[in-house]
Amino acid sequence: MAQSITYTVNPGGNLRGEIRVPGDKSMSHRSIMLGSLAEGVTHVTGFLNAEDALATLQAFRAMGVEIEGPANGEVTIHGVGKHGLKQPKEPLYLGNSGTSMRLLCGLLSGQQFDSVLTGDKSLESRPMRRVTEPLALMGAKIETEVDGTAPLRIKGGVALKGIHYDLPMASAQVKSCLLLAGMYAEGQTSVTEPAPTRDHTERMLNGFSYPVKREGGKAMIDSKGSLKACDIDVPSDISSAAFFLVGASIAPDSDVTLKHVGINPTRTGVIDILRLMGANIEVMNERSVGGEPVADIRVRSSQLQGIDIPEELVPLAIDEFPVLFVAAACAEGQTRLTGAKELRVKESDRIQVMADGLQILGVDAQPTEDGMIINGSLIGGGEVDSHGDHRIAMAFSIAGLRASDTIVIRDCENVNTSFPEFRELATTLGLNLNSTS
Ligand code: S3P
Repeated sequence: MAQSITYTVNPGGNLRGEIRVPGDKSMSHRSIMLGSLAEGVTHVTGFLNAEDALATLQAFRAMGVEIEGPANGEVTIHGVGKHGLKQPKEPLYLGNSGTSMRLLCGLLSGQQFDSVLTGDKSLESRPMRRVTEPLALMGAKIETEVDGTAPLRIKGGVALKGIHYDLPMASAQVKSCLLLAGMYAEGQTSVTEPAPTRDHTERMLNGFSYPVKREGGKAMIDSKGSLKACDIDVPSDISSAAFFLVGASIAPDSDVTLKHVGINPTRTGVIDILRLMGANIEVMNERSVGGEPVADIRVRSSQLQGIDIPEELVPLAIDEFPVLFVAAACAEGQTRLTGAKELRVKESDRIQVMADGLQILGVDAQPTEDGMIINGSLIGGGEVDSHGDHRIAMAFSIAGLRASDTIVIRDCENVNTSFPEFRELATTLGLNLNSTS
């Protein structure tokens, strides 16, 4: 059992300085998965040394892949080729990581060996039918618990066949799961998404010379390709940068530059939403690194205004809503989020947990089935619970910048799943954050 960590944020302050936040989580997972299946040696730099990405790394080691590192963000993967994975001796424990479980579920459905995927309490309560049902249509044999949750017991040696699948929800995890299974299926596998979601799987597969075709919202793959090792430079995670984009916007007299941030257009909804609210964000030095757009981002204080968040931006900012709710609490007027039911099945029910915490702090926040209505309010102090959700813990830390009293946040150990350096970097910039266990 991990130690229980409590954050205490003293009110006020501002954020100033220049930092580089850790590597992108989505790309770090995928670099291990595809590097392992490649022929040759893949070098990764900027790898996220945090629990979720390490869960994926350990899973591939357990399947016989030799992986060196991470050391200073560098990882070397000795690829075993598309058919070179070995049966793990034990169930693969994936901690808190939904991406590891859903992507691996697709990949392992196409292997010759049986496997079992497990996770922590949060992960084992998250919906997995969204992947097991379409995989079953491809011929996969996967057992779940009666309510469709993990552990997932995946049968090997099954012949998969390609299907076309219209995704019922905008989910990059489900899309990626099916594309990875499609690498082992007879014929073509295609997936159409109802709205654009992050496309790192498609881009990285192409980077490994594996053909994936795109036609509008449809991605297509077949089993004919093979992966060739390559070098991957993982940019900083915009989802981690988001805490400082909001923090520097809401705290008076702030000026922060975030270096080398991934600005893939399927991830930049947080910038668009904050700009619609009146934030002062400059995207500088745009460049392309290994097929992914990267930039430095400067953000300065501004008086935010409440808005109706355009629904088409929801999948492009899906992980940033906890901290965007804090921005809304600091804005003048009302902010309304709709079309974001997916937030209820993340690491926690992010609609309920954020509404509960904001209300404790005196904010007028009303949860709805698929979003939230927040009226800009003064933020007070109090004790809130992150429910073991990393992004909730970090979002309430940022709220301290505009609070009138101390905020105590319980159950913060899972900040280590995505951003172990959060406290150190946040305090360097000026947040008054203490951590006790
Ligand atoms: C991710 C996709 C998103 C996101 C998650 C990472 C990925 O999940 O919330 O943190 O790496 O593919 P969904 O695809 O389920 O929305």
